[in-house]
Amino acid sequence: MTISNPSEIKNDIQKYILICNDREIYKMKKIKELFVDNGVHNSPEVFILVGLCLFISATAIAQKTQLGKKISSDLFGLFFEDINYAADGGLYAELVQNRSFEYNPTEQKEWNPLSFWEYFSPGYSIGRISVETTSPIHINNPHYIVLDIEHVGHEVNYTGAAGVGIKNIGFGGMVIKAGEKFNFSLFARQLSKEPIIISVSLQSPSGKIKYAENTISTSSKQWKKYTSTFTASESSDSASLVILATTKGKLAVDVISLFPEKTFKNRSNGLRVDLAQMLADMKPKFIRFPGGCLAHGDGLGNMYRWKNTIGPIERRKEQRNLWGYNQTAGLGYYEFFQFCEDIGAKPLPVLPAAVCCQNSGGTWRIGGTGQKALPMNEMKDYVQEVLDLIEWANGSAASPWGAKRAAAGHPKPFNLQYIGIGNEDKITPEFEERFKMISKAVKMKHPEIIVIGTAGPFHSGEDFNKGWKLSNDLKIPIVDEHYYTNPEWFLSNQHRYDTYPRNAAKVYLGEYASWGNKLWNAIAEAVYMTSLERNGDVVALTSYAPLLAKKGFTQWKTDMIFFDNNSICPTPNYYVQKMFSTNQGDLYFDNVIAKNDKDSTQAASCVQDSKTGDIILKLVNAGKQPAPMNVSMAGFENIIEDAERTVITGNADAENTFENPKNVVSVKSTFKVSSKFEYETPAMSLTVIRIKTKK
Ligand code: AHR
Repeated sequence: MTISNPSEIKNDIQKYILICNDREIYKMKKIKELFVDNGVHNSPEVFILVGLCLFISATAIAQKTQLGKKISSDLFGLFFEDINYAADGGLYAELVQNRSFEYNPTEQKEWNPLSFWEYFSPGYSIGRISVETTSPIHINNPHYIVLDIEHVGHEVNYTGAAGVGIKNIGFGGMVIKAGEKFNFSLFARQLSKEPIIISVSLQSPSGKIKYAENTISTSSKQWKKYTSTFTASESSDSASLVILATTKGKLAVDVISLFPEKTFKNRSNGLRVDLAQMLADMKPKFIRFPGGCLAHGDGLGNMYRWKNTIGPIERRKEQRNLWGYNQTAGLGYYEFFQFCEDIGAKPLPVLPAAVCCQNSGGTWRIGGTGQKALPMNEMKDYVQEVLDLIEWANGSAASPWGAKRAAAGHPKPFNLQYIGIGNEDKITPEFEERFKMISKAVKMKHPEIIVIGTAGPFHSGEDFNKGWKLSNDLKIPIVDEHYYTNPEWFLSNQHRYDTYPRNAAKVYLGEYASWGNKLWNAIAEAVYMTSLERNGDVVALTSYAPLLAKKGFTQWKTDMIFFDNNSICPTPNYYVQKMFSTNQGDLYFDNVIAKNDKDSTQAASCVQDSKTGDIILKLVNAGKQPAPMNVSMAGFENIIEDAERTVITGNADAENTFENPKNVVSVKSTFKVSSKFEYETPAMSLTVIRIKTKK
């Protein structure tokens, strides 16, 4: 908007002052724009008027907050842990399994550096393969293979491929689509005099069909990265990558990688598009990573150390994933932060509190006595490691750790706000001592960072009580609670947070789920989630867990999104989570929806998103019969009667399967609202009604 005559400014301001009462923050911005549009920056009269506007707006906000309670604007986020092959073989788009020959028997008894690779020497060729460690690319990546090609057979009457090489079938067959491009790379070190010609191809399982092929010729006696791009000629979900040396000689090879060119937001070393998009579509306010128990690890040597997960992939340290497989750390801290930024979510890293998981070594069988603590003489370095993360994320590109972030391609800070210290640890004296040291150092050096403490793996009990007490004693602003339990618990505990003190630490419900992925489980969670909104003044953050699970590779039964190499099967729980996370507000209104309060299967909430002005109603019926609820919008002005409605409903036992992934989904429609209306909630349902307001 522009005004031609500066004397009109006063009138226009008055007009805006009136509207200030309606949409305060938006209007303040508009007022500012009005001046800037008209080139008015420093007239004293104008500043007085702006001041007046702001005063009136502030009064209006105060009046409004008496009606609407201010709640967390970061309430619904995501929990990401590499469990159930969520990262390698899942969200991380790498197609080669065991790309760096680092698999070993501590991960699975029968695994070794050649697992998921097949040695072969077609065409009557003669050669050898060995796994070596004497001159690796980097100390973090100790194993590589050596191919010794003694003879490349070109026997009479033989017309097929000849050479010595290896084949990888990825994570149960590579999925390729005709016309799709792939980026291939490998590191090689020529150990013989002459260059070695390597054929790289994508093939069918029998090798009869080649979907793509390129040739590489080695040119260095030092480790060198060779790259190549393929276009697949056909589609397949069982392709393998074949590396075949076709000339005589000796060659060291490592870090053999194949990515689809198309990754989420086209990031290199990026994420699988369909899975990443599904998470982005949830519009989470934050993402917690890298776990879960993965964060504190199985034994001290297995703690997740963030510094091992940044920089070029060939320098990252792979390690055993405590869920029984290997983690390449290809999806490391840089990729987590980048993904958060790409989808507008705040990063929430959880760092070990210098102790490992109390269940380490399988001690959950004897009561979880396996917690070990870093020796005190290592604590100074460990505390520094935590502080370095903050510098890496938020420091200027000129700072030592900020420079590493910049070198990786992100000169601007990542705006880290939250940091979790510890994951549902046993609250022992050793834990307490280390937690204090770390949290104190963060508070001293970075008072701007919000530290999140931890309160054990259950909704109550000794560690829960001790964890809360410790955090409150230390004035930690937020505490992480975890609980997995039956759906009935969620119904009967929906008033849990109503009585939490408002003058103590706030809650991060960092892991929760009802045991199961039937609609009934999801609706029980929906009941509970309305109570999280109602208590959004004390519950700051929440995330359902776990998030992703690969079909046939799950260690944890109840998960939000199942997938295989080709497809995705979101659970009813996913739809419920999405209906809440895409409909968040920052103001909570009581007394808008009347229902039968004595019936714990009925729940409802009303929030407003003050940025858009939209009012959002959530009505849940976890009962077996439809139930009427009465909505009164009388307290709201300017509502637009054509609203958007999303409903999920069905049989309590209904679930989604790979055969029928859309058995239970949320359905959108339009819905007319008025200042008072009755809404009949279907049995076993969640309804979200999003009502726009006039600006
Ligand atoms: O979400 C699965 C596991 O449950 C997490 O790793 C752990 O923190 C919790 O016990």
